[in-house]
Amino acid sequence: MKEDKPIQHNHQTRRNISKFTNPVIYLLLISVSYMLGYLSSSSTHNTTTTNTTTAIQLTPPSSSTKTTTNTASSTSSIPTDSLDHFRFSARCGKAVSPELIRQTILYKLYNGTSPYNEFPPPHISSLIKQARIKGWGSKGAVFENLIRKVKPTTIIEVGTFLGASAIHMAELTRSLGLKTQILCVDDFRGWAGFRDQRFKDIQMVNGDIMLMYQFMQNVVYSNVTELILPIPFSTQSVLDKFCEWGVLGDLVEVDAGHDFHSAWSDINRAYKLLRPGGVMFGHDYFTSADERGVRRAVNLFARVNGFRVQVDGQHWVIDST
Ligand SMILES: C[S@@+](CC[C@H](N)C(=O)[O-])C[C@H]1O[C@@H](n2cnc3c(N)ncnc32)[C@H](O)[C@@H]1O
Ligand SMILES: *[C@@H]1O[C@H](CO)[C@@H](O)[C@H](O)[C@H]1NC(C)=O
Ligand SMILES: *[C@@H]1O[C@H](CO)[C@@H](O)[C@H](O)[C@H]1NC(C)=O
Ligand SMILES: *[C@@H]1O[C@H](CO)[C@@H](O)[C@H](O)[C@H]1NC(C)=O
Repeated sequence: MKEDKPIQHNHQTRRNISKFTNPVIYLLLISVSYMLGYLSSSSTHNTTTTNTTTAIQLTPPSSSTKTTTNTASSTSSIPTDSLDHFRFSARCGKAVSPELIRQTILYKLYNGTSPYNEFPPPHISSLIKQARIKGWGSKGAVFENLIRKVKPTTIIEVGTFLGASAIHMAELTRSLGLKTQILCVDDFRGWAGFRDQRFKDIQMVNGDIMLMYQFMQNVVYSNVTELILPIPFSTQSVLDKFCEWGVLGDLVEVDAGHDFHSAWSDINRAYKLLRPGGVMFGHDYFTSADERGVRRAVNLFARVNGFRVQVDGQHWVIDST
């Protein structure tokens, strides 16, 4: 997790994007078709061997190299049954109406009681700071631009950390007179080793880090407890549950794991949670983290679903309308 690079201007970044889009897509398709070739080859071999070690050691046969070249120019030549491996098949339940979102979450996750009640508990107060709010690009112009445009009643944030971007959005919606609930999905574990340097002040008790409590304290300090709820689970498990429960958003921000596979999974799961006309967006389209996979995942998602990726500062935006 690196510091932000200076924000670039929109038109400049647009021009950059067209420069790299084609080669990037080309490489992506090559790797996807490589994976498809690999998956189909290992499943064929699985019929003749029960030894998983052997299956893992298989290298793709030369025939799949041929497939790679063929499919590189078009997704349509990927056999449709192989695409099953890439399907996010959750079917969302009936949408919960916006006024009932907070109550629904309180009942589903908190046994009907606000997690902010009697917060912080006495044994925690000395372990957290009055406020410790730090994020990355968390006040970028994209937040205000999209909130003004979409006027969201529900925002789902996937990746919250100490709450910098969530609190910024809460303050924006309040100042615009909107009644918005912001659901903050994060396992509040940060990432392995995140306390090594800049965050070593986040306390730890018997191996348990105080990230969620510090986030909640930041929300209390900012007086936005009515607008923000923590959703302390892995993105994968909770996004699928939201879909099942009909907990949907008008605005969904994706800013959790920044490697390709995490971003790809989060983006696909998060997209299902958009109400009609909703907008999905995220950070690190143009920061050092983009090489780890966010940009590749966003571009592939847009390509597969026929969306155009818009750029706002360091953020990507996909407008489902
Ligand atoms: C870059 S930080 C979010 C920053 C925040 N959006 C901001 O701008 O202030 C990424 C967060 O994603 C969370 N995260 C990463 N992978 C996750 C996963 N699979 N499930 C839940 N949370 C995850 C980490 O705990 C971390 O707090
Ligand atoms: C699986 O493969 C490994 C490595 O080739 C071999 O050592 C092992 O005996 C095999 N196990 C079975 C159940 O065939
Ligand atoms: C959940 O709420 C009910 C009713 O308010 C209460 O009786 C019960 O003890 C609570 N359970 C837990 C685990 O807090
Ligand atoms: C905190 O927010 C509430 C609305 O939830 C508002 O009525 C109150 O005036 C705010 N307090 C401060 C100190 O800003």
